[in-house]
Amino acid sequence: MFELNETQRMVQQSARSYAQKALAPIAAALDREGRFPREQLRELAELGLMGVNVPEEFGGAAAGAVSYVLAMMEISQACASTAVIMAVTNMVVETIVHFGSQEQKQRYVPEITSGRVAAASYALSEPHTGSDAAALSTNARRDGGGWVLNGSKQWITSGDQAGVIIVWARTGGPGSKGSSCFLLEGGAPGLHIGKHEDKMGLRASPTVSLSFEDLRLPASAMLGAEGQGFAIAMRALDGGRVGIGAQAVGIGTAALEDAVRYAKDRQAFGQPIANFQAIRFLLADVATELDAARLLTLRAAALKEAGKPFTREASMAKVFASEKANKAADIGVQIHGGYGYLDEFPAERHYRDARATTIYEGTSEIQRIVIAREVLKD
Ligand code: CAA
Repeated sequence: MFELNETQRMVQQSARSYAQKALAPIAAALDREGRFPREQLRELAELGLMGVNVPEEFGGAAAGAVSYVLAMMEISQACASTAVIMAVTNMVVETIVHFGSQEQKQRYVPEITSGRVAAASYALSEPHTGSDAAALSTNARRDGGGWVLNGSKQWITSGDQAGVIIVWARTGGPGSKGSSCFLLEGGAPGLHIGKHEDKMGLRASPTVSLSFEDLRLPASAMLGAEGQGFAIAMRALDGGRVGIGAQAVGIGTAALEDAVRYAKDRQAFGQPIANFQAIRFLLADVATELDAARLLTLRAAALKEAGKPFTREASMAKVFASEKANKAADIGVQIHGGYGYLDEFPAERHYRDARATTIYEGTSEIQRIVIAREVLKD
């Protein structure tokens, strides 16, 4: 049993209260209109949720990795689109804190944590390089004292809105040792915003492609050391995957709560359908699995917070929580019957939103590769 400390309870409570008052009532409209939640993201920043695990000296809440996942669960339960923007922004800002120079931290981190920029992006994937993250084609070549960036990226969350973007590019030979990463400002000359993807779910979270055409970067734009890019990407994703585990728990919980409400309300054969064992057993399984997902996610976050290895636990939390969230959302639709198939009820939105969680930040198949490697390690 996880006993939350005072800070964690406070963060959870303030995220819950904001999520239920300000996000839940507009989540369906944001989704329907594909509207970027700019104002809401600024309010999340005011609550400290755009740098939950970032030191106070850079404007963060310094509340730790466990507080971060607790907040992520609450925000995701209300609006999964807003939550994924928050998740990627927190992943980026933590990566800058972890690997950035003092100058980079001072320049970029307070911009993000204060909400002066709406969001931050993580630009690793490319049109032909998703799961095989070491096979990048985007390249940065040396030019005088700086770099010139050329190439393209795909599936970039908030790529058209971000004030700060971490971009991975090849600076050396093939494979994982040949990549480096750079900090880029939104609107930089040579940065082009491409297609805005028309997604199944998470429709208020923009996903775009980016391209770089002779984009000049000073030497000081490199994040970490030359050739360290892949390790930075993996370390960032370890933390990111715990966040997506939390997002999945939030979406699954929303699906479960909606299904319970409907089952108590809906009458069939002269009684609420919640009286039927066929429904009760479904709800029992979903509740149990979501609790297990919550505990796996909290464990991964607690290990991260304690500075212990958590790669295996992050992948376990991500694969389990995302698959159980999909099951919860599927059962949620089933319990609603025909109404679950209409956009009058949030069940269908949860179903669409949950679907992304087994894909982004490493597919379920990639998580199983990571877990199996750790399990088989000598
Ligand atoms: N932490 C630190 N270093 C790590 C690491 C980790 N978690 N995992 C691997 N490394 C290091 C290894 O130790 C190794 O270093 P050495 O060569 O010095 O030993 C090096 O990185 C190469 O590792 P691998 O041999 O394991 O690399 P691989 O090519 O076999 O790839 C992989 C491993 C797990 C498949 C990886 O490519 C991967 O995670 N792929 C999925 C990519 C992904 O998740 N993309 C998501 C995009 S972001 C997104 O979706 C965000 C969004 O907007 C929502």
